[in-house]
Amino acid sequence: MKLSKSQLETYERDGYLTLPGLFSAAEVDAMKSELRRIQDIDTDHLVRERSGGVAKTIYRVHEDNGPTASPVFHAASRCPRVLEPAKAVLGDESLYVYHTKCNLKTAIDGSVWQWHQDYGTWRKDGVPQPALTTALVMLDKPTELNGCLYFIPGSHKVGNLEPRFDDATAYKFWVVPKERLLDIMANSPEPVPITGEPGTVVFFHPNILHASGHNLSRHDRWAIYVVYNKVANRPLDVPNPRPDYVRSTNFAPLQLGTDDILAAGRVAA
Ligand code: SIN
Ligand code: MN
Repeated sequence: MKLSKSQLETYERDGYLTLPGLFSAAEVDAMKSELRRIQDIDTDHLVRERSGGVAKTIYRVHEDNGPTASPVFHAASRCPRVLEPAKAVLGDESLYVYHTKCNLKTAIDGSVWQWHQDYGTWRKDGVPQPALTTALVMLDKPTELNGCLYFIPGSHKVGNLEPRFDDATAYKFWVVPKERLLDIMANSPEPVPITGEPGTVVFFHPNILHASGHNLSRHDRWAIYVVYNKVANRPLDVPNPRPDYVRSTNFAPLQLGTDDILAAGRVAA
């Protein structure tokens, strides 16, 4: 799928681009049923709400090997509908998958992600440039009540901010320090809720400021994030690198697959 000039300009201006209806209801169902299967696997590639509880984050579903491997996500991360736009926003270079992360923000329990830039963490992983893009695939309908993502439009242009490690909330990770955040917010458009129908895909820049709230609803809010990096932008060596399931060392350039991801999933299964 080719992006138009105006779609590329939107991504460049706002730091994100929404593509409704990229996956069908049947494809979304197949992805969700895979996540229900993987949720029960005992592995360090997923994080549970509490020991023995339901999985809230599942990593590395895009490979053809490993405990959380899934044929349908392997196909989805390589299908033209997604890989071609990813290449277009990154200047048509060879890409690999930096990681896949499925966030199963469950009804009532699913909690806040503080304001952050993804590249705040990835820079610490040794990634030289913010030359990545993330494809968010909505698997449920994200709403303001169930903890949808919020973006500050255009905030990817603030550059790389020095993050602060936040260990006070459920997700312990690198966030934007409050004083800097308030300053940026005072000089930016209001944050935008990223809502849509299941099957919508949103590409976003690694420096865009984003956050999400608690899931106060009775509905789960599931989403998957497929992060693409340029092969030429692979991470440099760092002391104590994070594990392969969040900082992939499979740098083989992705080959364009088929848009028939259900057939590809069946053949591989
Ligand atoms: C993230 O920003 O990495 C995840 C936020 C969310 O899924 O709510
Ligand atoms: Mn993020």
